[in-house]
Amino acid sequence: MNRHLVSAASLTRDDALLILDTAEELARVADRPIKKLPTLRGRTVVNLFFEDSTRTRTSFEVAAKRLSADVINFSAKGSSVAKGESLRDTALTLEAMGADAVVIRHVASGAAHRLAGWVSGSVINAGDGTHEHPTQALLDAFTIRRRLRPCEAGAGPFPAGRGALDGVRVAIVGDVLHSRVARSNVALLNVLGAEVTLVAPPTLLPLAVGSWPCEAAYDLDAVLPKSDVVMMLRVQRERMSAAYFPSVREYSRRYGLDATRMALLPDHAIVMHPGPMNRGVEIAAEVADSARSTIVEQVANGVSVRMAVLYLLLGGAEFPEESGAGFPEESGAEFPEEGR
Ligand code: CP
Repeated sequence: MNRHLVSAASLTRDDALLILDTAEELARVADRPIKKLPTLRGRTVVNLFFEDSTRTRTSFEVAAKRLSADVINFSAKGSSVAKGESLRDTALTLEAMGADAVVIRHVASGAAHRLAGWVSGSVINAGDGTHEHPTQALLDAFTIRRRLRPCEAGAGPFPAGRGALDGVRVAIVGDVLHSRVARSNVALLNVLGAEVTLVAPPTLLPLAVGSWPCEAAYDLDAVLPKSDVVMMLRVQRERMSAAYFPSVREYSRRYGLDATRMALLPDHAIVMHPGPMNRGVEIAAEVADSARSTIVEQVANGVSVRMAVLYLLLGGAEFPEESGAGFPEESGAEFPEEGR
């Protein structure tokens, strides 16, 4: 594994499978009465958020704390950034306080890449502009694998077991142009063997989409019956500087997923959304809250996947097998002194 996680496009198939398999092991911690491992004890993780977040920031915090790391939450609001301090000076200040990993979300594409050149610790991209959001793609892949791969042999469209996502057909629908989630998912799903189709009005597809490792389509109703997964994207009105469609109502009519449209999916297909959702725009409430929806699972899986990323990048100590009782926190005993 690389020292940083800046883009999903930089992950090899082996890297991605290692993260997903590690997340699968770490997910077991969530089922224990004490949901904590000492593996990153003494390490410091800084959450450096220059843009709003609910899911990513809190799940990185929970993930780091479950691995016993110290966590510093930094928000640009109320900091010296408001007085004009640069990203570089902010990062170096936090590094001087002993950060081993910096988790960064920034409005500018490329911010995580720049940061990786300035600090000696690991940098994890938690979303940079319209560029990438690699841990979102990893938790999406983890969720697809859990929902579609473990079906009993012969009972579903895919063989049982973990493995990759070979042959899984994924439709990513909506505002692809402004979506870092779409970019990271196309890269990661491709390396894992899935077949991706982007579905959007022509105005919301990037000009360079022809060079991406996926198909592009405009007719959602034609794509849905051939999809195992449909991933709805938020219409990012805050990033839109022009009119990309005639009206929200028109967009919703052509590209929104309601119950009638969901019925076009094969029986085993799942519905995903990275959140936050615009209910009634790209996804109807009845779909978001349906049994096919994995939206809440995606949030829970985000903690396991981010634990795996922190564990692998920071080279944490071994974590125990399910039967292991080797950790003092689980037995209620004190940690041994260093060096004993
Ligand atoms: N999916 C996602 O990145 O959500 P947040 O903006 O709430 O972190």
